[in-house]
Amino acid sequence: MKRLYIETVGCQMNMLDSEMVVASLRKHGYELTDDAQLADVCLYNTCSVRQHAEDKTYSSLGRMKRCKQANPRKVVGVMGCMAQKDQRLIFERAPYVDLIVGPGQLQQIPELIANIQAGAEPQVAVSMGRRDGAVDEIKRSHETFDPLRDPAMRPTPFQAYLRIQIGCDKFCTYCIVPMTRGPEQGRDPQQILSEARTLAEQGCKEIILLGQTVNSYRHTSAAGVDTRLSGLLRQLHEVDGIERLKFVTNYPKDMTLELLETVRDLPKCSPYLHVPAQSGSNAVLQRMKRGYTVEDYREMMERIHATLPDAAVSSDFIVGFCGETDDDFEQTMQLVRDCRFKNSFIFKYSVRPGTKASEQLPDDVPTEVKQARNNELLALQNRISAEDNQDFIGREVSVLVEGPSKAAQKRGDEGPVLQLTGRTHCDRIVVFDGNLRQVGNTLPVVVYDASSHTLFGSVVTYEAGPGPLLAFNQGGR
Ligand code: 5AD
Ligand code: SF4
Repeated sequence: MKRLYIETVGCQMNMLDSEMVVASLRKHGYELTDDAQLADVCLYNTCSVRQHAEDKTYSSLGRMKRCKQANPRKVVGVMGCMAQKDQRLIFERAPYVDLIVGPGQLQQIPELIANIQAGAEPQVAVSMGRRDGAVDEIKRSHETFDPLRDPAMRPTPFQAYLRIQIGCDKFCTYCIVPMTRGPEQGRDPQQILSEARTLAEQGCKEIILLGQTVNSYRHTSAAGVDTRLSGLLRQLHEVDGIERLKFVTNYPKDMTLELLETVRDLPKCSPYLHVPAQSGSNAVLQRMKRGYTVEDYREMMERIHATLPDAAVSSDFIVGFCGETDDDFEQTMQLVRDCRFKNSFIFKYSVRPGTKASEQLPDDVPTEVKQARNNELLALQNRISAEDNQDFIGREVSVLVEGPSKAAQKRGDEGPVLQLTGRTHCDRIVVFDGNLRQVGNTLPVVVYDASSHTLFGSVVTYEAGPGPLLAFNQGGR
């Protein structure tokens, strides 16, 4: 048995890519280890969306140096967005790297590793050219690669990611993704459906559809049949065994009434929508080339609430983007006050060489100002999340149980009775006392307390069902 160590940073797309790489290497006789020292192959799946993510990878690679000196036969590989973007730089900073593979070439990894082990020079496989040259290659590779799945690499055994879209065509001026992952392409609905059925057969209850702008999904078949996200959801809704369908990340302009009505009408669709606003100022949105105004975004929020009154909406914001004034920032604060997002991910602007902003707009907001705005916006969002979570106290929610809570894991609790964690249909985290046997079940939980990120509850047991059911009433109100 050969041993594989894999470290993943970045988005859910990267987690899915790592899952598929592990699945393909298992076929070639590898088993997973969490000890990089002992591994025959160490892979780093990288992210380029902010400088911080790249720094993290370089420090991991730095730690590899001695390991590699001690065991020159160990294969060290860098995959993902940073591999696509910075091949030469990676070799300069970490000359002991053997393998560099872009996100569109991951299916070549077993072969490339074998070449290295047979004594070949360092191997590089990336998409050529910034855009056009990459199209065919990315398309071909993903369509043969995606169906490979590895349950051990999933968030939990009954939750899985499913890619429905590759790449991005929006070219927001700050963003490197269109350069690393290539142009937007919707995958064939037939392939998506067959993958969903496989996942259901493997015990998956929740599928999270992935795309950079997932609600812009579109596929036209050879026969001219056009499929949008709403149509795809209706087809996926028919797959037996799947209980919940989520989709991330959404693009505000494509949040159509038809899609919202589809989510409303299909009980398996989670009323949870992640729709990054990025800024509350029209001047900033324009410099970002986001393609909508704050008024458009607010209208979209009204449409969401009118169609899905219980929907939870979350957002992303970039603070300190080029030229952002105090007044621009105040408009972002106001948008957050008005929209009352379930949660927001807040990022300090990080210049990405190769993007339009890096070439045309000065990064002129001082680091301290970025940090202060980040803190202020986060404090506001946390206050709103905490306030809105209070509304759940005394209410019953339906929780898909994921496993031991973070606290239980930290304490090393073994169970079977211990603190568990799960999520509501609208993606809120719920912590409660339960039994490990309940993992994977959907349970009614009454909420008795709430913080900004967590609801605390007790399982409701109306009547004794099959198996040893436990009623937990401690702490309940
Ligand atoms: N700097 C900071 N944040 C960024 N994001 C994307 N590019 C950058 C950048 N250059 C953020 C956006 C996006 C999220 C995934 O990362 O908010 O929605
Ligand atoms: Fe980047 Fe904009 Fe595409 Fe999102 S929509 S991946 S922020 S270019």
